Amino acid sequence: MNASDAPSPGGELRRPRVVTIDGPAGCGKSTVVARLSEWLGARGVATVGFSTGLVYRGLTWCALERGIDLADARAVRALLRGVELGGVELRVVELRGELRVEVDGHDPGEALRTTRVTDAIHWIADDPEVRAALLPLQRALPAGPVILSEGRDLGTVVYPDAAVKVYLTASLEERARRRHSEFRDRLGEEISLEEVQERIRRRDEHDSEREAAPLRPAEDAVVIDTTTLAPEAVVEEILAEFPDDWFPPAAPSGAGGGADE
Ligand code: C5P
Repeated sequence: MNASDAPSPGGELRRPRVVTIDGPAGCGKSTVVARLSEWLGARGVATVGFSTGLVYRGLTWCALERGIDLADARAVRALLRGVELGGVELRVVELRGELRVEVDGHDPGEALRTTRVTDAIHWIADDPEVRAALLPLQRALPAGPVILSEGRDLGTVVYPDAAVKVYLTASLEERARRRHSEFRDRLGEEISLEEVQERIRRRDEHDSEREAAPLRPAEDAVVIDTTTLAPEAVVEEILAEFPDDWFPPAAPSGAGGGADE
């Protein structure tokens, strides 16, 4: 995809309008992206969601499918050397208001979110060379809609110039509780709450302590603790950060301010 330089109706080049939402697993990023998209859509502001973890998940899934030893950094890096050399073709494609990741021409769907993939991601996400190779994929964004991106290093590394930067946190217990319901309801995986909590704790530790692009808030990010906040309240805080000109001129009064539903 290469829509980042799409001309605006006036003819000049427009830059993508990016909102970055970083934070640890289970802090509420996806819920907030969904609510923001709904709220903005109802007011005539088109959005595209981008869970950038899918890029890491896509590569990890491919390595697992091909039987590559993830501890072998050279073998993993070789996957990124181009399709003609036997590498993987990763593509970011827009589908119904979301950016999805295709691996060798097909979207693995929910398979990307299984614990098999999640447990192996750190081999890939820790490698600075791999991270650098995955940057262009994350930066080729459509210029029209507001991009609601979620990840770990978006405000600090991937989109340092984003107009709106948010960092969400929540207690480990609350995040484990949220993720546990998700495993059960969405992925149909049977896993105890204690185990979910331990996995999240390990992943946080890894994401925060790795040398390459560790999980941390950008200096200019708004930090919101979602432990006891309803998603509507989080959305309201984020909307307060939006530039006024992201809303259509005829937007109802209050646009850019609080969520009213
Ligand atoms: O957000 P999600 O749970 O899909 O992320 C999976 C993993 O991918 C994270 O735990 C992290 O290791 C890695 N990741 C990353 N940088 C991002 C997004 C995800 O390192 N921007």
